[in-house]
Amino acid sequence: MGSTFGTCCKISIFGESHGNAIGVTIDGFPAGINFDEEFIKSEMARRAPSSNVFSTSRKEADEFEVLSGVFDGRTTGAPITAIIRNTNQHSSDYEGLRTNPRPSHADFTAFIRYNNNHDVRGGGHFSGRLTAPLVFAGALCKLALEQYEIHIISHISSVGDIKDTPFDKVNITPETIDLLSEKAFPVMDETASELMTALISKARISADSVGGTIECAVLGLPAGLGSPMFDGVESVLSQIIFGIPAVKGLEFGSGFSMSAMFGSQANDEFCINEDGDIATRSNNNGGILGGITSGMPVIFKTAIKPTASIGRPQKTVNLRTGTETDITVGGRHDPCIVPRAVPVIEAAAAVAFLDMMLLKNGYNKE
Ligand SMILES: Cc1cc2nc3c(=O)[nH]c(=O)nc-3n(C[C@H](O)[C@H](O)[C@H](O)COP(=O)(O)O)c2cc1C
Repeated sequence: MGSTFGTCCKISIFGESHGNAIGVTIDGFPAGINFDEEFIKSEMARRAPSSNVFSTSRKEADEFEVLSGVFDGRTTGAPITAIIRNTNQHSSDYEGLRTNPRPSHADFTAFIRYNNNHDVRGGGHFSGRLTAPLVFAGALCKLALEQYEIHIISHISSVGDIKDTPFDKVNITPETIDLLSEKAFPVMDETASELMTALISKARISADSVGGTIECAVLGLPAGLGSPMFDGVESVLSQIIFGIPAVKGLEFGSGFSMSAMFGSQANDEFCINEDGDIATRSNNNGGILGGITSGMPVIFKTAIKPTASIGRPQKTVNLRTGTETDITVGGRHDPCIVPRAVPVIEAAAAVAFLDMMLLKNGYNKE
């Protein structure tokens, strides 16, 4: 089971949902980055479950403890390891899952792949909880990217069939960034926001769940990051984004809808912008051409499926007897993963782009 990502700056995530702790080791992180504890805590809080309408009733403080790589408030260049202790386990909720796998969760595939040796409690290493250390690493990478004036912003672009206003792919204004940064439920259109929360409440009340999409923009990137073919920006981002549990789709720029356009509509014509730089008039390609950043905002949209664990009776197969049976999933689950996945997607993008920046700028292995 490998949970490592990166070339220059490598992250390795470890732990299980109901084990002693989960955590991350970040190898190759630059020295001298200010360890802004308040910022990291605020990023972790965006992902942590809370008692609002769109989250689970589980209480996980997600308090981290840094074991290495930080001294006198700055990163030292040595590997950074941080752990988050697990404190709110109800492992008895999950005992039946070894025999009766949840539809749409990883219980069945983990049973086959690891010969039933996997830790089944709370989803083990497959749990959404493993995204807490990813958010820790992403917060640090965001701090490192600030020195290049690279910023990441995202919003919930849909829940079920309710859609928010899409990003302007060419120009995301400081007002949009400020508006979204202040919101716990980052949706630009107020009416859409209310309809989305109502839909999530409806799913919760009816012991069901609902999915959605997140649109993310990476701003301030230089042109020239990435490579063609397998190390392209789309390939690298896909590797880390699809590592996030419940992600089932990813599109860059205008993505699938580009396939229904004429070239004359889809092509992003070049121009000289107000600052005298080469830019494009539209950004259907999402800031990536030939796997390499064009200098336009990198825009991508991630599809998150409805939470697999729902409180309604469903059909499954008993893996001991080989017979069909019914399952009603217990435990405390999010009726919609999307709001909590927003900082996770941003964290993944931050990890990937810091790695690409270090690759481009020549990595100094201190
Ligand atoms: C932040 C976050 C929270 C999650 N919470 C739950 C949950 O409460 N219940 C659940 O069944 N799945 C949850 N998941 C998703 C599962 O971990 C995921 O569906 C499962 O591991 C199977 O992987 P797959 O959906 O990528 O195929 C969560 C995912 C994330 C990113």
